[in-house]
Amino acid sequence: MRYILATANPGKIKEMRDILSGLGIEVVTRDGLGIQIAVEETGTTFYENAKLKAEAICAASKMPSIADDSGLVVEALDGRPGVYSSSYGGEALTAEQRCMFLLDEMKKTEQRRAKFVCNIVCVFPDGNILSAAGECNGTISTEIKGVRGFGYDPVFVPDGYIKTMAELSSEEKNAISHRGKALLEFISKLKEKCV
Ligand code: IMP
Repeated sequence: MRYILATANPGKIKEMRDILSGLGIEVVTRDGLGIQIAVEETGTTFYENAKLKAEAICAASKMPSIADDSGLVVEALDGRPGVYSSSYGGEALTAEQRCMFLLDEMKKTEQRRAKFVCNIVCVFPDGNILSAAGECNGTISTEIKGVRGFGYDPVFVPDGYIKTMAELSSEEKNAISHRGKALLEFISKLKEKCV
């Protein structure tokens, strides 16, 4: 069965494609199929937003649709930016400016614990839903480092590492990331469903 990735974020697409194709799942992108609907992320949880995206793309494509909703949850900021990670500090900021904005917010505190969270939701044309979640714990660095990955990777140091996520190879990131963990759980549930 072919699946459609219900995301337009190039960073997520690369990681999801790498992980899923390594596990034998064939995926196409919504842009690849010319599906250009904008889905409003009105949910208050990662799960709700992932479901909204998967439902919309499934309705438009009539294919099983896999959506990712993810973000950075910072303890000292009461969980911000959380589900608003993609627009934290203002819609128009670049990823680097967003990282700078976060580092600025963190100047007020000594507490740097944070986690990346990812919810994967797959909606099938018959209405069935399969979901999975993953987290990656770490700390917020004091400066921007590394050029790989995307988003907040240059300011996030995963537990057990002295490098930021943006200094890891894509294989290293996928092995420990919130998205990698959520997709592994998703695949195992998918296999159970198909047996
Ligand atoms: P959304 O899921 O489209 O609402 O966007 C999630 C946002 O969270 C992204 O735009 C990034 O800013 C951030 N994010 C999610 N996953 C990652 C990651 O793996 N690395 C760095 N930033 C991430």
